[in-house]
Amino acid sequence: MLFKRVKPLDQIIATAEKKALTRQLGALQLTLMGVGAIIGTGIFVLTAEAGQKAGPGMMLSFVIAAVVCALAALSYAELASMVPVAGSAYTYTYGVLGEGVAWIVGWALVLEYAIAAGTVAVGWSNYMNGLLLNTDLFGLVHPGALSLPEFLRTGPQDGGIFNLLAFLISLVIMFLLIIGTSKSAKVNAVLVAIKIVALTVFIAIALPATKHSNFQPFLPNGWGSPLGGIGVLGAAASIFFAYVGFDAVSTAAEETKNPNRNIPIGLIGSLAVCTIFYLLVGYGAVGSVGSQPMLGADGIAIHPGTLEMANACKGSEALVCSKEPLAHVLRLLGFERIGNLVGLAAVLALPSVILVMMYGQTRIFFTMSRDGLLPAGLSKLHPKFHTPHVLTLITGIAVSLFAAMFPVGVLADIVNSGTLFAFIMVSIGVMVLRVRQPERHRPFRTPAVWLICPLAILGCLLLFVNLGVHTLVLFFGWAIVGLVVYALYGYRKSHLANGTEPA
Ligand code: ALA
Repeated sequence: MLFKRVKPLDQIIATAEKKALTRQLGALQLTLMGVGAIIGTGIFVLTAEAGQKAGPGMMLSFVIAAVVCALAALSYAELASMVPVAGSAYTYTYGVLGEGVAWIVGWALVLEYAIAAGTVAVGWSNYMNGLLLNTDLFGLVHPGALSLPEFLRTGPQDGGIFNLLAFLISLVIMFLLIIGTSKSAKVNAVLVAIKIVALTVFIAIALPATKHSNFQPFLPNGWGSPLGGIGVLGAAASIFFAYVGFDAVSTAAEETKNPNRNIPIGLIGSLAVCTIFYLLVGYGAVGSVGSQPMLGADGIAIHPGTLEMANACKGSEALVCSKEPLAHVLRLLGFERIGNLVGLAAVLALPSVILVMMYGQTRIFFTMSRDGLLPAGLSKLHPKFHTPHVLTLITGIAVSLFAAMFPVGVLADIVNSGTLFAFIMVSIGVMVLRVRQPERHRPFRTPAVWLICPLAILGCLLLFVNLGVHTLVLFFGWAIVGLVVYALYGYRKSHLANGTEPA
């Protein structure tokens, strides 16, 4: 059942042309969109989490995650340029591995895009709270009870019920998306510039302050082991989040001018720019203030995102304890003001990441609904704004609630599980299609495909198994729910199966 209903690629392209979104994005806008999606909570916030998991060895984690993403990006680029329609990995899988697998991929992409939007909203709220604490900005006070999810409370004095700021920012972004992509994309370009400047300033201050001693011991938690979620590989599996988003470029394929050329440029260009920044920022952060993990009573590094960690971090200035590590490092180095400005840059710019992620989610739902796997009413376009407003509303509200209730690292790991799964499917899809349709025109060809794709799959699997057992249980639970939903709805309503392609 899972592999049977393969939607011919030509039909996919034709369907997209019938109910088309306007083609308005160019190569530069796409690259900016990629960088806008990539640089975010990962580098600004999860650097602390990676430090807790790997110590200074997190530098290796950044490299490992980057290599895996580069391999996956080369696969994405081939399929995205061949099938330039909305829906990303979901659409490609539909055209190669069949409807059942495509549904599961689409279902997993919800983890990637919707939960990522929530994760970044939490990261944003960390920086916003940091600013409120460290400055007299707006004359407001630290919002206490409205700044933490309930289960990270370390005592009654912490408050911690509902992350109000993360909730509110998600709703604002939802409204921006309902008003229209094009306006949002322009704002995005300005915000990307702000992020780049902030990271550059951070690097310029932190690099000269690096000390050799801060890199010792380099691997306090070792390499880590499968299902452990700790060590260099555990950190790589988490920091992978910092690279998530380059594939958002491919979800915009249907709204891109000359997608054959522009999509590969957008994907690979944005990934390359971000990798360089991450390595420099990571080196600067570790080298300037150190990143040794907090140890539990048993002498083993505590898992980040737990109550034990929150308790151990009370009153600590350690990098691994900071909720806004980049601003924190600069403050520790004596650059209080600049630290606050970098915090302000994060506050201004992270919303662009939430925007791209939420945008990606709505376009994937849009495509699934157009295929009949989700109710058609969901993909209705707004009469005035021409955006899928119903989907955007549902997505936005769900994202806001997630953001309000969960800690950032837990959400990030869930995102990574869905994303890695989708990447594996895309790489399999590229190889299957090379065999089945070798003659089909490929505007971008994955180089050394029989080496790159298997390596991409192995790399993704390596990170996947290092995510930690809770995340994996959640992932498989989500997949099973997805299969049930498909059996009850999509399997019967599918336009492909019923020959009911809308005109
Ligand atoms: N890569 C994006 C971030 O780090 C999702 O926020």
